[in-house]
Amino acid sequence: MRVYLIGYMGSGKSTAAKRLSAVLDLPSYDLDVLFEERYKIEIGAFFHRYDETLFRKLESGLLKETANIPQGIIATGGGTPCFYDNIHWMNENGITVYIRMAPVSIVERLKTSKKKRPLIANKAEHELLPYIQESLRQRNIFYSQAHIIVKGESLDVKALSDKILSLLRK
Ligand code: S3P
Repeated sequence: MRVYLIGYMGSGKSTAAKRLSAVLDLPSYDLDVLFEERYKIEIGAFFHRYDETLFRKLESGLLKETANIPQGIIATGGGTPCFYDNIHWMNENGITVYIRMAPVSIVERLKTSKKKRPLIANKAEHELLPYIQESLRQRNIFYSQAHIIVKGESLDVKALSDKILSLLRK
């Protein structure tokens, strides 16, 4: 069983992956970390040195390599489902969970961790909310295709794991 966690930056995908992995007794992975390990460069530095187009191409390639992981919870990057055929591929190759969070909650969480996120690193605090509202509007088309959608602000990991298991039984 492979579970892909998708959602906006700051919605808690990596933390949820670790917590779910404990409940379901499966290893957890983080696509951003896999990227940094493979290409030996931090994502921020990668965007600086190359560009987003190349990042998306390599990210999609790495995502497809997760087909080699027999069992696991995989936290993806915020943009992963929105490029190439990635959301379709994840839906075909695992169970997808969208951790949905309201823009205001995302702003609160990103205020202190902007620097390592190249897409918002240079945004002033007052620019964050309108930016996130607009990009969430565009990304929702992809996020909403997930098999399961849960509320990030009050994530109940046990209830989520039950939903995943019941979907698997179908
Ligand atoms: C991105 C989100 C980041 C990382 C990259 C691009 C995005 O991952 O993949 O900076 O497009 O939303 P997190 O969602 O883990 O911050």
